[in-house]
Amino acid sequence: MASLVPSLGQLVSDATCLFKKLFNDEAPKIAACAPGRVNLIGDHTDYNQGYVLPMALSLVTVVVGSASSGQEAIIVTASELADEPKKVDLSLPNEGFPSFPGLPHWANYLRGIMHHYRALPLPGFRAVVVSSVPLGSGLSSSASLEVAFYTFLQQLRPAPVPAAAKHPHNMMLPPPRFTFDDGDKVAKAIACQQAEHTHAGVPCGIMDQLVSVLGMEGHALLIDCRSLESIPVPLSDPGLVFLITNSNVKHSLASSEYALRRGQCEKAASILGKPSLRDATVNDLEDSHSGHGPTMKISDPSMISKWEDFHYSRVSTYSYCSTLFVFPVPAWHCNKLTLYSLSPSQESRAQLDDVTYRRASHVIGEICRTLKAAESFKNGSFQEFGKIMVESHNSLRDLYEVSCKDLDDLVCAAMEVEGVFGSRMTGGGFGGCTITLLKADAIHRTIQNIQGVCILELFGPH
Ligand code: GLA
Repeated sequence: MASLVPSLGQLVSDATCLFKKLFNDEAPKIAACAPGRVNLIGDHTDYNQGYVLPMALSLVTVVVGSASSGQEAIIVTASELADEPKKVDLSLPNEGFPSFPGLPHWANYLRGIMHHYRALPLPGFRAVVVSSVPLGSGLSSSASLEVAFYTFLQQLRPAPVPAAAKHPHNMMLPPPRFTFDDGDKVAKAIACQQAEHTHAGVPCGIMDQLVSVLGMEGHALLIDCRSLESIPVPLSDPGLVFLITNSNVKHSLASSEYALRRGQCEKAASILGKPSLRDATVNDLEDSHSGHGPTMKISDPSMISKWEDFHYSRVSTYSYCSTLFVFPVPAWHCNKLTLYSLSPSQESRAQLDDVTYRRASHVIGEICRTLKAAESFKNGSFQEFGKIMVESHNSLRDLYEVSCKDLDDLVCAAMEVEGVFGSRMTGGGFGGCTITLLKADAIHRTIQNIQGVCILELFGPH
C-alpha cells in the first residue's frame, strides 16, 4: 500500500508531546528540521567530483528542545529502529576537546555534529528527535538528522560574527572554528559530511548533506560536486510524478562495500593520471594502454549554461512499501531493459584490472548521463530522460554492482507500464529505493502493476 507522509506540523507536534512527557511538562523552545532526499540521477559520482541531480523530500527529521543549565546534553530519539538506549547524555566536551564515536550507534551522528559544529562552546540542552525519513532506505535519513541537529545547535546558541573574529590574523583569538558560525550553508554541509566521516565511519560524498541544506520545495538541484555550486531545477509540470518505491531491503553504507567502491575509483583515477574521475573521459579509459580511439562522446558542461530557459515539471512524490515483493520477477523482464552496451578493450584492462575498469566506466558514464538527463529536462524530453534513467540503473547494476535483485525487480515492474518514462535505483544501493518518472495519470496502474507482478509471482501463473 502507498504510505502517507506525516506533515511537518504533525512531526513537530509529536516531538513536542514527547519532550513535555520526558521533561516535566515543559514546552521546547526551539524546533529545527531538515529533509531527506531522493537522487534523480548521478549516483556514486559525488565523491568523484562529478554531477548529481537530487531533490529534497517532504520526509524530514525534526529536532525540538531547549537550553538548560549545566553541561548535560540529553537527547532522546523516537525512532523505533534506532539501537538502544534511545536516551543519551552527550555531556558537552570542553572547547577543542574531541568527542569520540561510541554506543548507541544512532548517537554517533550527533556526536559528530557536536564535534564539527562551527560555533563552540555550546550551552547544556535537552532535545527530542523524530523523523519521517525511513532509516536505511537510501533516502538520507542520516544527512537529514545531521543537518537538523546542526540547525538546532545554530538556534541554541545564535552566534553573530563578532567583529574581532573577522580578523583571522589576530593571534589573541582562538581558531575561528571555535568562535563563530558565519552562516555559510556550504560550510555547514561540509561540517555535516565530516561528522559522517569521522563519527559514523562512512566516507560519503557531499550530495546528501548539500541538498538537505540547500534543497528547495518544488525543485531538484543540479550540483557540481567539484565547485559545490548548485543550480535549482524547477519541477513544475502537474502532468508528471516521481514515484519512490522502497524495497525495504536495508542497506548499510557503513559496510565495507561503499568504501571499497570509493577506493576503486581513486585507484582508477591514479592509474589514469587524473586528480579524479571527473577529469577522465572514455578516451582516457580506452587509451590508457592501447591508444584506441573514442567509443563515446562526453557531454560538454557548457551545454547546460542557460538554465533559466528550461521548462521543468512539477513533481509529486509517493512512497510505496514493497514488503510483499519477495519473489523473483522472470528474467525476461530484465532482458528487455538493457539499453546500453560497453565493449571494454582488452588492452586498457591490462592496466586497469577488470573490476577497476568497470567501476571507472560507470562513473565516467554516469557523470555524462547526469548532464544529458538535465539537458533533456530542459527540452521537455521526458522520454529521453527516462531512457537515461534506465541506462543509469543498468550501469549501477552491471558495472558498479551496487544494485540487488529486489531493486532490479522494482525497476522491471515499473518499466512494464504505459506512461512510465524511466526507473532506476537511487542512492548508495545494496537495497533502499527506486525512483520512477511517469505520467501522473499512470500512477495507479503503476502501483497496481508492481503489486500485480508480485502477486503473480507469489501465487504462480494459473
Ligand atoms: C550515499 C552517499 C552519497 C552518495 C550516494 C551515491 O547516499 O551518502 O554521498 O555517494 O550514496 O550516489
